[in-house]
Amino acid sequence: MKAIIVLLRWIVGTFHKLLNLYPSPEGAHTLFVRCATWPILKPSLIWLFKKCQTPNPSPKPIQIEGLCLEHPFGVAAGFDKNGVLIEILDALGFGFIEVGTVTPNPQIGNPKPRIHKWRKKQIMINAMGFNNDGILAMKKQLSSLPKPLLKKILVSISKNKNSPALLADFGIGCREVWHLCGGITVNLSSPNTQGLRGFQSSEEISAISDCFKKLQDEFGPTALYTEPRTPALFCKLSPDLSDDQLKACLDALRDSAFSGVILTNTTIDLGEFKTTHTGGLSGRPLKEKADRILKLATQHTRGTLFTIGVGGILSQQDASDKFSSGARAIQLYSGLIFKGPGLLWQLTDSAFETERCS
Ligand SMILES: Cc1cc2nc3c(=O)[nH]c(=O)nc-3n(C[C@H](O)[C@H](O)[C@H](O)COP(=O)(O)O)c2cc1C
Repeated sequence: MKAIIVLLRWIVGTFHKLLNLYPSPEGAHTLFVRCATWPILKPSLIWLFKKCQTPNPSPKPIQIEGLCLEHPFGVAAGFDKNGVLIEILDALGFGFIEVGTVTPNPQIGNPKPRIHKWRKKQIMINAMGFNNDGILAMKKQLSSLPKPLLKKILVSISKNKNSPALLADFGIGCREVWHLCGGITVNLSSPNTQGLRGFQSSEEISAISDCFKKLQDEFGPTALYTEPRTPALFCKLSPDLSDDQLKACLDALRDSAFSGVILTNTTIDLGEFKTTHTGGLSGRPLKEKADRILKLATQHTRGTLFTIGVGGILSQQDASDKFSSGARAIQLYSGLIFKGPGLLWQLTDSAFETERCS
């Protein structure tokens, strides 16, 4: 690899390490978002990040309806709640980007501090509660982006805290972004919105699918393509479902308008932190649980659903475990916080190297 790339990656890695020293995890994220969206700095950061990407990648894109995964390494929902970092995440080299979770109306989320981080143990616990600027702000962001970039965007949608009707909120979200993204995820698995996980049932999943089919009839193919492709539809599930509950959800997903499933969200099994914290746990200890669910889902569906694996990917080995458990693509969150973008480059370097050698 060229010495210049090594040097630039080292510089980015050093900034990431400094950012990680910031005492408040949410403060560090907000500082990063401010810098990355500051008009004076943004073009230079995009230039720098692009220079750090894997040189001469030969990606084999994966097309699922309207969603185009340039390669199977993506960023998970929650990192860019309002879609303001899309160009930055694209410049870092992510193969697809899930933005949100977004709700119809803006909401402030739970009181702070609502993210806790243990660097040595590589654990995060968050109780964000869908803080976001609302679907219209997301629509505005997406409207400013070029079509090829929109094809790799998944928009994660869910319900407002005080809304009783998931289906109505899902419909509102889909309508606003239908022609502005490659795919839509319905998030049924955040532990920080009371009652949301109760929608993880075959009846609710079938109702969401029927709602999506009506939207397909109303809106037709997405405007991103000349050929007829509708946005791909995904469902994100919890790692805390029982095996029977998971199988029932998967059966409903398979017999419906859904293209795939994202496994998994954070767990409410907080282990040693259960008496001191509330929220959802991600990072290192989630991996075993998420991998088990992923394997079970792969065996049960026999590959009929496109499965995206997320949860506890902090190394190349963790990523390959996800693929061996049946994931066709993977997403990073905690790994990006603890290891920085170097983790993504490690994955893309080795994947594209293998691809070239095979
Ligand atoms: C601070 C934070 C906020 C998150 N927000 C969302 C969200 O809005 N929507 C969602 O589907 N998942 C959200 N997640 C869950 C992640 O997308 C991911 O599923 C989870 O963190 C497990 O992956 P990891 O172990 O690599 O972090 C969030 C996670 C964290 C740590």
